[in-house]
Amino acid sequence: MAQPMAQSMGQRHFLDLADLSAATLRGLLDAAHARKAARAGLPTAMPDPDQPLNGHMLGMVFDKPSTRTRLSFDLAMRQLGGQTMLLNQADTQLGRGETIEDTARVMARFCDIVMLRTGPHENLTAYAAASDVPVINGLTASGHPCQILADLMTFEEHKGALEGRRIAWFGDGNNVAVSLAQAAALLGFELALAVPDAFMLPDDVLAWAADKPGKITRCESPQDAARGAAALVTDCWVSMSDDPETAEKRAAAFGAYQVTQELMALGDGAIFMHCLPAYRGKEVTAEVIDGPKSVVFDEAENRCHAQKTILTYCLGLDA
Ligand code: CP
Ligand code: NVA
Repeated sequence: MAQPMAQSMGQRHFLDLADLSAATLRGLLDAAHARKAARAGLPTAMPDPDQPLNGHMLGMVFDKPSTRTRLSFDLAMRQLGGQTMLLNQADTQLGRGETIEDTARVMARFCDIVMLRTGPHENLTAYAAASDVPVINGLTASGHPCQILADLMTFEEHKGALEGRRIAWFGDGNNVAVSLAQAAALLGFELALAVPDAFMLPDDVLAWAADKPGKITRCESPQDAARGAAALVTDCWVSMSDDPETAEKRAAAFGAYQVTQELMALGDGAIFMHCLPAYRGKEVTAEVIDGPKSVVFDEAENRCHAQKTILTYCLGLDA
């Protein structure tokens, strides 16, 4: 049967920050700040005054665990005037072999927009190619763009303009690091990488970033990366898509990259950022993540504000 590819490709998906122009990313960030400010002081379950997604349904498919992504998309839709339906992949027919493409076509009959969290990025792109409604990347092994929109917003709240600033990343060159590198490249800030060679970000990501306004710097040591940084950022050493059997090897490789008070002191009044969930005593000391420069719970809250602008953008209603 002819697949409605043209229509599907005409959808405004949100799959990867590298798909966006710098102006679009900037517009999403500005809209997120404005939307957060516009509902300041309102009780959590009170909708935003404009309710732009009144009557709209978001479908969420989780093939991996989630706390923040699930809560923040659900609340974002409610505050925008819409509703959500949730599928845990293991409980669906996807879990027993129904194709991604058929699932995407079925969901489009029930939902105006879909958020998918899965492992292989190819699952997401296959889903989006078959979908007659916009698809949002709620995390794959290759990227976590929703997280980075919230993190950029959080940085700006605490440290001001991003352009020309230095942000340092420690440990694994994982999905979150990839999305942060894409944002740096587009928005013109420096991402200083303290990442062991064996866990470096993929070559194609670094090559894509090379001729963009931002700068990706590979540093010799964690201390080199931290020097002059406005934010120190890290993530867990074993991601959901990694083989748990590699945990010991990863701990050995990343031990020297733990974010400590000593590293924080090398920054320029640096804040500490982490997408959560965090493992105290591994990628970060308790002293840092529970200390006065940590903004991790602001990052979590901002997931909701940032995702509202992604939802309205994908539906052509904003930004
Ligand atoms: N940071 C993040 O995406 O958290 P969850 O895995 O809990 O959704
Ligand atoms: N890198 C982590 C992020 C969790 C939100 C993972 O993929 O598990």
